[in-house]
Amino acid sequence: MKPTPKTFHVKSFGCQMNVYDGERMGELMAAQGMTATDDANAADLVVLNTCHIREKATEKVYSDIGRLRKHGRTPMIAVAGCVAQAEGEEIVRRAKVDVVVGPQAYHNLPDLVRDAAAGTAALDTDMPALSKFGALPARRKVSPGAFLTVQEGCDKFCTYCVVPYTRGAEISRPFDAIVDEAKALVDAGAREITLLGQNVNAWDDDAATGLHGLIRALDRIDGLHRIRYTTSHPNDMRDGLIRAHAEVEKLMPFLHLPVQAGSDRILKAMNRSHTRDSYLRLLERVRAARTDIALSGDFIVGFPGETEADFAETLSLVDAVGYAQCFSFKYSPRAGTPAADMADQIAPEVMDERLQRLQGALNRDQAAFNAATLGKSCTVLIERKGKLPGQMLGKSPWLQSVHLTTNAQIGDLVEVDIVRADPNSLAGVERVKIAA
Ligand code: 5AD
Ligand code: SF4
Repeated sequence: MKPTPKTFHVKSFGCQMNVYDGERMGELMAAQGMTATDDANAADLVVLNTCHIREKATEKVYSDIGRLRKHGRTPMIAVAGCVAQAEGEEIVRRAKVDVVVGPQAYHNLPDLVRDAAAGTAALDTDMPALSKFGALPARRKVSPGAFLTVQEGCDKFCTYCVVPYTRGAEISRPFDAIVDEAKALVDAGAREITLLGQNVNAWDDDAATGLHGLIRALDRIDGLHRIRYTTSHPNDMRDGLIRAHAEVEKLMPFLHLPVQAGSDRILKAMNRSHTRDSYLRLLERVRAARTDIALSGDFIVGFPGETEADFAETLSLVDAVGYAQCFSFKYSPRAGTPAADMADQIAPEVMDERLQRLQGALNRDQAAFNAATLGKSCTVLIERKGKLPGQMLGKSPWLQSVHLTTNAQIGDLVEVDIVRADPNSLAGVERVKIAA
């Protein structure tokens, strides 16, 4: 038995979908009368909203639990997210946490917390299709850049990936529910909405139009200035979506389109179901529609069987594309996925060395992309205060961080001239304030 918590802290790891889920869990608890605190070490209830994608991310949960219990403190601990889904009761056995709740069941969190306070086992990893969304409270005050989950799950079964198992099959939220939530977000202060999904461009509630139809509907919401979406699969990149990049002004010139590797042999072993060439041709079409688009991607180095020649093809693909920014990872074998049982696993030191070379190339291209914006003007959405007096931080249309000195407030859009370009950020000088 533990006292019913009065304060809570949600800590989200991993992808933006977890950030969204974390916000919604916070709203749920606030609706129960609990108060949010920024300090995990002072909260009565700590929700660890976990990521299972790589081994390191998974192990972090257990070290975090240990840290929370330091100095004899015994907060109520709830493990949510993908580790909860994948490991279920194992977490209770291994770490004696109070609540375990999967990503499709977190609308039940308040009940589970109540059960835990009463001393009953509190575990829910059911995967009912979408029922959680209807059971969540209305959106409250949000930041200028808000996330909105429109699609969950994955049917692609890349051979290295746990997502199809932890997040289940691809499901699209209904069109009307999404548009209503978008309007509520704008009313609550959002100026930019990022549509989220594990395969967001597979969203197909309205099969006639696909994701681009949804984007065009959001385009009509007054007060919403920017639309983004992430993350996409190359095989779901339909013509209409590419056209939207040419035609919808609010759709920002940025595309995150993971390729993972540059060698067809490895892409096949990964079950990516696209080739190096089909990916490059797709990017050509996207660039033809929107010439200034910033491209982003994900890469895995050291997939089982990856030779030096295969890796050289990844580097040459990077050279061919010229990404604005990317994420890159060492392959991490995940139990239950086909790749974990493949022969020819790559030695850690080989992976380290390849990752270093890849990141060298990606950093070089990111710096070059930033340098190319020097002297241009663009709008910046102000998101937060900077460290220096009068300094504010925001995002360019191409998702670069921009800092500038301005009287503009959080949520304002400011037209700036880019006067300095660093590898990780830009400096701007204000021209005119456009909208509040
Ligand atoms: N090992 C390393 N990276 C992985 N990713 C997914 N599964 C693994 C794994 N087992 C990466 C992919 C994916 C991103 C979200 O995480 O690059 O696009
Ligand atoms: Fe994982 Fe592949 Fe699905 Fe992306 S497309 S979530 S990498 S299985």
